[in-house]
Amino acid sequence: MVRETRLSARSLVYPLFVCPGSKVKDEISSMPGNYRWSVDLLAEEGKRAHDLGIPAVILFGIPESKDDVGSGAYDPDGIVQRAVRALKKAVPGLLVICDVCLDEYTSHGHCGLIKNEEVDNDSTLELLAKTALTQVRAGADIVAPSDMMDGRVGRIRSELDARGFTNVPILAYSAKYASAFYGPFREAADSAPKFGDRKSYQMDPANQREALREIALDVEEGADIIMIKPALPYLDIIALARRQFDVPIAAYQVSGEFALIEAGARLGWIDRERIMMETLLSLRRAGADIILTYFAKDAARLLGC
Ligand code: PBG
Repeated sequence: MVRETRLSARSLVYPLFVCPGSKVKDEISSMPGNYRWSVDLLAEEGKRAHDLGIPAVILFGIPESKDDVGSGAYDPDGIVQRAVRALKKAVPGLLVICDVCLDEYTSHGHCGLIKNEEVDNDSTLELLAKTALTQVRAGADIVAPSDMMDGRVGRIRSELDARGFTNVPILAYSAKYASAFYGPFREAADSAPKFGDRKSYQMDPANQREALREIALDVEEGADIIMIKPALPYLDIIALARRQFDVPIAAYQVSGEFALIEAGARLGWIDRERIMMETLLSLRRAGADIILTYFAKDAARLLGC
């Protein structure tokens, strides 16, 4: 009765990787228990998650081929667009969120177009808007831009509104840090930048006030939900954002956070279940409403519906 914070499967979002082919279930070596799924098997995994009481999944695509403009991201018949259609058909009650970003689709691995060896913010916005539109047309319930280009929330909002999708919310990765915790994800999506790093668009881990500025800009541009990423090393940002903004807040417990706990558990040095639940609960205590986590299914199993 006196507990101040509660964790429930209803706050969890399960990240899923989708790849070409059929009957593919390919385990990601640094993320045990997480797989690259082909579209056919993905729908079954979505159903299992939904049956455990998890309301939503977020999709990441691994395309057949990559090019320097990331055209697989906005192909109306691209890997994620096909996956959304299959998921919505197989599990209509499951909320499908699509990550909007080019890095999984570009040959150079950056989140935007390259001009003069730099990521060009403004020309990238057009492609992000196109990506979001094709995802929504395929049936996505929410779009989640993760690229950290300036102005992308506003550009995507106006695109969706102009095409009649005024009711589709935007979950903005507002405070996304240039973090080493994304390592296993980049292995999973083969999306590590081939030159340079993401520090010109992602945030410096040393900065707190800048995160609040980034969030304020996204909210002004029309973000419906804001996200902070990674999660555990940035609890201060979540707590500050909670005090300053009244929109729902999502926290992304990223691949490296997951991998650390899994590795510690495999060595027998920590109690996997207790640490999993304690970290998730701490994100709620800091102020997150929604948690994206690779532990979603295991946590939901322990929590019950
Ligand atoms: C970018 C994106 C990244 C993650 C989610 N969206 C990687 C990056 O910036 O390199 C990382 C998620 C994770 O580590 O779990 N599309």
